[in-house]
Amino acid sequence: METLVQTPAAVRKLYIESYGCAMNFSDSEIIASIMGENGFEPTQDEFDADVIFLNTCAIRDNAEQRIRERLKHLRANKKQNRDLIIGVLGCMAERLKDKLLEEEKLVDVVAGPDSYRELPKLVAEVDEGARAINVLLSREETYGDLNPVRLNSNGVSAFISIMRGCDNMCSFCVVPFTRGRERSRDPESILREAKELAIAGYKEITLLGQNVDSYLWFGGGPKKEFKNLSEEEKSQAVDFADLLEMTALAVPEMRIRYSTSHPRDIDEKVVKTMARFKNICNYIHLPAQSGNSRVLDMMSRNYTREWYMEKVKMIRDILPDCGISCDIIAGFCTETEDEHQDTLSLMEWSQFDFSYMYKYSERPGTPAAKKLADDVPEDVKGRRLQEIIALQNEISKTRNQRYIGQVVEVLVEAESKRSADEWMGRNDQNIVTVFPKENYQKGDLVKVLVESASTTTLRGRAVGRVEWL
Ligand code: 5AD
Ligand code: SF4
Repeated sequence: METLVQTPAAVRKLYIESYGCAMNFSDSEIIASIMGENGFEPTQDEFDADVIFLNTCAIRDNAEQRIRERLKHLRANKKQNRDLIIGVLGCMAERLKDKLLEEEKLVDVVAGPDSYRELPKLVAEVDEGARAINVLLSREETYGDLNPVRLNSNGVSAFISIMRGCDNMCSFCVVPFTRGRERSRDPESILREAKELAIAGYKEITLLGQNVDSYLWFGGGPKKEFKNLSEEEKSQAVDFADLLEMTALAVPEMRIRYSTSHPRDIDEKVVKTMARFKNICNYIHLPAQSGNSRVLDMMSRNYTREWYMEKVKMIRDILPDCGISCDIIAGFCTETEDEHQDTLSLMEWSQFDFSYMYKYSERPGTPAAKKLADDVPEDVKGRRLQEIIALQNEISKTRNQRYIGQVVEVLVEAESKRSADEWMGRNDQNIVTVFPKENYQKGDLVKVLVESASTTTLRGRAVGRVEWL
């Protein structure tokens, strides 16, 4: 028999640094997969890398400034290794396009969120001495057929991207311009990925999309609304509630989470599906952005304060112990003091478990930048944000204290940052919980009796294992 002696293809090292939202971190795993099939292996050491990719975010100006600073620092790496290839990928690449090649002289590759399959080719062009760019957006690309390479994973929880892009056109937001039109991924490929993660020992998945409630699969192609489907398409259509149910059944031994919901689109079908399955976590991220209907209208959010309150009520009626978190923007264009007070009163009424809170940052090219004056002074934005944060801290503390004396279910994710003797995980409602390790292991679902609670963390002790897992 002939023996084939194969020389292994030269392996080059790839270092990826991710910024921004969970979707972007999930994209980095797709990038690692595409590059992996083309002879690049991930490294955790930037000084060991042949290629450095920054997978960037453009949501607020300060995110972009941080990335620019990082690019300046990377000059040092380039000085040590002249062949080092530096790529800017993701939302900032899509927003700034060839300006990045002109402005940041050390950038060799620029690639937008829909052109990651082209990355090996783009790097090959750089090998030939060119600088390479692809920022074409797609109506179909979902990367559904790829097997993401789990990066920096705790081996317990993983993200699964179920759709890409966004069609909402909130007036403040750059995402529709950087991530293109909304498209849903084939449910079969989502379930396959979930099952593979279960086999690999993962215990929790988070289904990701910019607006999961508008997930709709009817055989592919550009997005249509349900009412515009043919009868045949309707009979085969899978909406988000269907997908949640299919996932809960496909991996009954895993915890399921999802993000992000849109207050206009979340409906009873989704919340009732959550109520029916023990393995779907009781937690909803439901960004309000503002508590005032005039501001919401200027933001093109397509709902009012009252509509938002109805949705919170619907969730609490069906799932009384559901965790709800929020995103809030302080000082949007033309926001008055009274309108800011409306945001505070909505927070008080809704009793969010926690919130992500930001000052409005004008993004070039967005409808707000084109049509509205960014007229709330910086110091007023700052003061309003501080008031929002102070109120949320108070609410979070009270909300967390209600767990004292109760037993919560915690999936062990990692060692606590503060102590090597303690585990850290999250309860069903997504609140960080810490307890002494005893004989429990990473990946265990543990019953924890809560003994104290701060604004961000529950502390307690283990009282047994949860049976269903
Ligand atoms: N300025 C401030 N915050 C923004 N967000 C999106 N765009 C902007 C902006 N231009 C916030 C919203 C969104 C979250 C992901 O980021 O609250 O829900
Ligand atoms: Fe994510 Fe939006 Fe930032 Fe893009 S701009 S990485 S979609 S948060």
